[in-house]
Amino acid sequence: MRLLITGGAGFIGSNLLQQIFRQDPPEIVVNLDSLTYSGNLKNLSNLESHPNYQFKKVDLRNATDVSKVVNTYAIDHVMHLAAESHVDRSINSPEPFLETNIMGTFNLLEACRQNWKESTGPKRFLHVSTDEVYGSLGPSGLFTEKTPYQPNSPYAASKASSDLVVRSYGRTYGLPVLITHCSNNYGPFQFPEKLIPLVTLKALHGRPIPVYGRGDNIRDWIHVDDHVHALWQVLTEGIPGETYNIGGNQESSNLDLVKTICAILDVKHPSSRPITETNQVLPHESLIEFVADRPGHDFRYAIDNRKIHQTFHWEPTYNLSTGLEQTITWYLEQTDWWQDILDQRYDLKRLGIQD
Ligand code: NAD
Ligand code: TYD
Repeated sequence: MRLLITGGAGFIGSNLLQQIFRQDPPEIVVNLDSLTYSGNLKNLSNLESHPNYQFKKVDLRNATDVSKVVNTYAIDHVMHLAAESHVDRSINSPEPFLETNIMGTFNLLEACRQNWKESTGPKRFLHVSTDEVYGSLGPSGLFTEKTPYQPNSPYAASKASSDLVVRSYGRTYGLPVLITHCSNNYGPFQFPEKLIPLVTLKALHGRPIPVYGRGDNIRDWIHVDDHVHALWQVLTEGIPGETYNIGGNQESSNLDLVKTICAILDVKHPSSRPITETNQVLPHESLIEFVADRPGHDFRYAIDNRKIHQTFHWEPTYNLSTGLEQTITWYLEQTDWWQDILDQRYDLKRLGIQD
């Protein structure tokens, strides 16, 4: 296998690469990433000198450069993860989402279509999408692979659009495409603008913890290790043209989740609990602040895992409480990783973690 991973320097991509290189890695694994604010090569420093690993700093929006990588490395398998990925950013500034997620995906599809025309041998194009394309659930029900698309944020709309273009390349040109829709991931290396690392770092710094609305929105959380394991199974065992939903079976309201993180920190890091003027020590959850809701905020996501379970016998191995303990321990131990982001790589005022 000659594998191209896009977005390998991001959260899920770097966990995927680490898992691939812990096992028997393919002949060549090329990581194509333009290193936006959320891409971080430090996540992969242990792989730099591995003979099977190559990093290419390429922007998916540059069709010529993308095609060159596919051609030069004679790529035959693709795992496409690179994207603009944060809903709040897509609300503030939708354009890069449309450019990277739609046109970037188109450029990658074209590169494969052109370069794979003349060559024989097995090929696969796995497009990593999200459950957010399905829109919002009420208090009951689950997203299946047949649920109609109803994206509500510019992020979700851009991912839904890219899914449709991918699908069309399968139907029209016979490209061996596969699409996955996963629920909310958490785990090591997640950029601290997403809920779980954001709450952890805000709490550690004694900053107000913003909970949108009343905190009653529900997400289905999956540990990133379980997600990347499923992605590998879909790439190697999936049927081209098929779509697979991937979920953690771990639903939680945002408020419950935030309170659980705070309770874990009370035990694991009691020194950051807030202290009042009268020297009273408060639990971390006293930092919770209810703030204005996100526009178009989807109420609930939840995944029906039956297809991927029945097809590959895949199932999530983490429950949310053990996964959260492990993840928060990682953030407590890897202070250099996030301090570097806070010091050098990001607009601190926007995150509101430090002055
Ligand atoms: P991330 O933001 O952590 O990483 C995205 C990576 O893509 C970064 O390394 C970034 O540098 C790279 N990138 C962005 N624009 C690029 C461009 N124009 N050219 C080349 N590289 C570019 O995101 P993530 O959370 O790791 O998500 C990865 C994929 O998984 C995305 O496609 C996302 O839609 C999907 N997904 C994420 C979740 C989740 O909960 N995080 C859930 C389901 C699906
Ligand atoms: P997020 O991590 O941004 O993922 P997504 O929007 O893709 O689900 O947010 C998870 C949930 O947490 C979502 O319902 C919005 C909510 N949220 C907050 O309440 N406060 C915050 O500061 C953030 C970033 C998210």
